[in-house]
Amino acid sequence: MENQLELNPNSLTELSESSAPSDDDEPALSSHTLAALKEFLAEQQRGSDAGGESEVSLVSEDWRLSQFWYSPETATTVAEEVLALCGGGIRARVACIACPTLYAYLKKMDPNVPAQLLEYDKRFGQYGSEYTFYDYNHPEDIPSELKHSCKVVVADPPYLSKECLEKVAETIHLLVQPGESFLLLLTGEVQKERAAEILGLHPCGFRPQHSSKLGNEFRLFSNYDPGTRLGGWEK
Ligand SMILES: C[S@@+](CC[C@H](N)C(=O)[O-])C[C@H]1O[C@@H](n2cnc3c(N)ncnc32)[C@H](O)[C@@H]1O
Repeated sequence: MENQLELNPNSLTELSESSAPSDDDEPALSSHTLAALKEFLAEQQRGSDAGGESEVSLVSEDWRLSQFWYSPETATTVAEEVLALCGGGIRARVACIACPTLYAYLKKMDPNVPAQLLEYDKRFGQYGSEYTFYDYNHPEDIPSELKHSCKVVVADPPYLSKECLEKVAETIHLLVQPGESFLLLLTGEVQKERAAEILGLHPCGFRPQHSSKLGNEFRLFSNYDPGTRLGGWEK
């Protein structure tokens, strides 16, 4: 019991205030304190059972919008990479284009990272001012305060067409800050040549996985050499 009480300083305070000596002079808990303590410990248990990746809850996939969420492992790996690119000191803005799972994991892993989700599905309006409605058909419509303000841009376009990639590339060019910037594109292997041609991106060894099984082979493309991270760079 001593160890459990140490979990909650409030319980300790309450214990010293309300406990009364029992017949054999051992401290006893009032029924009210005991109930509060039990509830607290149950809450702690629920938290540790939920642990890690499963804490991130997402809206259900809407296949009409080409929504396929990353597996927890993939979302965690990409979020770790993005946080490494942001560096520890000056906080660089991250744009997540059409990849809400990545946004959710980023914020879980570092709630202070300045991230902006650009997404067509308005259910993600739940993220408040860090959500921007975005239709890839209209790249020029992104808010002016976002333009040329992002050091890291990650995109996962909804379609595997040349036209969609070109429009998303326009958006990326509008978002990146002057100077050094890092681009990550998650899309089908079939876009490999176009990713190089349109955006100068090359595939990494890491293979993104999704919660639902997809027919297409997915790749992660970058404009920089990640070294030993992300399974290396295939340039
Ligand atoms: C292939 S999914 C990428 C999701 C990513 N795998 C994740 O787990 O976050 C494509 C995304 O594009 C969004 N989308 C659909 N139509 C769009 C449009 N017209 N403009 C921009 N985004 C769109 C979908 O809502 C979806 O989130």
